[in-house]
Amino acid sequence: MTWSPRTLPLAAVLILSLLAASCSGTNGAPTTASTETPTTTSQTSTTTTTTTTAPTTTADAFSGLIAPEAQALGIGDEYFPTLGNPGYDVDHYTIDMVFQPDTTTLDAVTTIEATATVELTSINLDFTKLEATSVHVDGVEAAFLAVEEDLVLTPSSAIAPGEGFVMDITYGGTPGRARSAAVPFGIGWQTVDGQNYVVAEPDAAHSWFPNNDHPLDKATYTFRINVPDGTTAAANGNLVERITDLGREIFVWEVTSPMAAYLATVVIGDFDIFEDPAASAESGVPIRHVLPAGTTVADYPGLERTGEMIAFLEDRFGPYPFDTYGIAIVDGFGAALENQTLSLFDSNIAMSFFFEDVLIHELAHQWYGNSVSPGAWQDIWLNEGFASYAEWLWIERESSREILEQEIALEREDFAGAGFPAPGRPPVFELFGPAVYRVGAMALHALRLTVGDEAFFDIMREHASRFADSTARTADFIAVAEEVSGQDLSDLFNEWLFERRVPEFPAAS
Ligand code: ARG
Ligand code: ZN
Repeated sequence: MTWSPRTLPLAAVLILSLLAASCSGTNGAPTTASTETPTTTSQTSTTTTTTTTAPTTTADAFSGLIAPEAQALGIGDEYFPTLGNPGYDVDHYTIDMVFQPDTTTLDAVTTIEATATVELTSINLDFTKLEATSVHVDGVEAAFLAVEEDLVLTPSSAIAPGEGFVMDITYGGTPGRARSAAVPFGIGWQTVDGQNYVVAEPDAAHSWFPNNDHPLDKATYTFRINVPDGTTAAANGNLVERITDLGREIFVWEVTSPMAAYLATVVIGDFDIFEDPAASAESGVPIRHVLPAGTTVADYPGLERTGEMIAFLEDRFGPYPFDTYGIAIVDGFGAALENQTLSLFDSNIAMSFFFEDVLIHELAHQWYGNSVSPGAWQDIWLNEGFASYAEWLWIERESSREILEQEIALEREDFAGAGFPAPGRPPVFELFGPAVYRVGAMALHALRLTVGDEAFFDIMREHASRFADSTARTADFIAVAEEVSGQDLSDLFNEWLFERRVPEFPAAS
């Protein structure tokens, strides 16, 4: 494939997935294949009617003996069958951690406030890599057992449907990378040259804290990160407190909008928290970045346009969905990731000529991906196609509609006949592949040409507002598009999303 200067930016993200082909056998080689049938139904229910069975609590269970009935469960994601768990909804996570940068060890307690949706005699969390040492449910010690990538808790008495309950999981260890079927490199906790940061999309959040690891169960978060004095610890949301304590400092961050676990991050190391009042004033959204110590916004040309970009996307997509924004710039990541309110960028991308394209891409994810999250991972084009389309909107603003049309036409030719998977249902190892991003964006462009600009942006805004702080599936988006435009769009979406060839664009309406 050839990349024009304008599409090259995407290489920053896509090169990693293209590498997958040549890196088979390395960490994260694909393990799951998908079928080709389009999904047209919306996933409506996340709870199961089965009550999980586990033995009643016994002294043996406390001592860690395996309960034979305990099994790994999932929330029903076809691509990741053991991600997420049925039977409860998490309301809030408090991740309280002591981190030692010199040894990269973590000692933590994650407190999970949840509500049962069925009678629970046992509770499955997703958790792997680190070791749980004690578990309490409503303050009472509970038996627990690690089963595959689940931690199965047995409370001392059953929890009734509708009842709120609190789990405290104490754990520790050396956090590290985790394999994913979706990408050919280790994700999860990264330690690079004295920096520590988390890259969890799509399935590594449970490698650093216990959780219900699927976007269908979003929750609010508090992070309390205890690090040595002189080290900075950032996370999603707002820094609400800094507590100095005997040579150490605790950074407290609060996330007040529901967030999918895969978007949770911490960034720990020699960083400055840099507030940008000019950009905040321009957008009305408080902007703070987490920058390598001693650097400022001026060191990353393009970053000063963050406020302008927020205002621009608000005009197209509707109000910015959260109460703060900014990026963290780290070394050794090789890509960018839209962690909620704190997108993560590799320092090389932040100093590249295509930085602005990736900035607008990750910013757009705050609407599409973060506020409206995919209801199933196979619907990832709802994230990546939409964020890629925002790059095209930025090109249009910086040049003209005519130039944009030429760019898109050239890029379509690059993809046509090249044998890419259909973006609406990629195999799991192509979730972040070029077709999802670029043909996904072309599907939106075909929609825009079909319904016209006014209806198109109405559709984009309606989708963002209807499913704000929630999840949506492809069928939900199609329904919004048909409702707002008053047109039957099933053929259009079928051919762009679910057929392996790249269609011709329709004539502009
Ligand atoms: N969602 C990211 C983006 O397009 C892609 C990240 C790919 N890597 C990963 N670990 N999921 O901005
Ligand atoms: Zn993206």
